[in-house]
Amino acid sequence: MKKNTSVIPEPVRDLLVQAARWAARNAYCPHSHYAVGAAVLMTDGQIYTGCNVENASYGLTLCAERVAISKAISHGNRAFAALAVVGGTPKKPAFPCGACRQVMVEFMNSESPVYIAPLKSGKPVSTTVGALLPCAFQK
Ligand code: THU
Repeated sequence: MKKNTSVIPEPVRDLLVQAARWAARNAYCPHSHYAVGAAVLMTDGQIYTGCNVENASYGLTLCAERVAISKAISHGNRAFAALAVVGGTPKKPAFPCGACRQVMVEFMNSESPVYIAPLKSGKPVSTTVGALLPCAFQK
């Protein structure tokens, strides 16, 4: 059962975006030169971060969001409260890919906040998992 939806205070949101920006510094992206960072906030306050990890066999690339989510899961923590992703420019920030949206649906609520911000600086756009993937496939 997925639960734990909450309102995230603005300073916490900003901290999460900042954590994602720090994680993006570790992006392994020699093929695209497109760094992405992600951070997930858990209901206990814990933050897990991720970056994209590319491969010469392009399809093996791991997206930043799925790295962050997998880190939380592999630490035994599934109580997601929010996710931030940073990438791209203020004009064209990195919206999560379709695969990552489906993975968010797996572990987060449709009301869970998702913050999308440019890589370097700038305010995040606020949306939700449900808005990013309406009518999602669910068993
Ligand atoms: N990427 C992510 O990390 N997350 C997304 O949601 C979209 C794309 C990465 C994958 C690849 O390393 C680079 O961005 C360019 O597609």
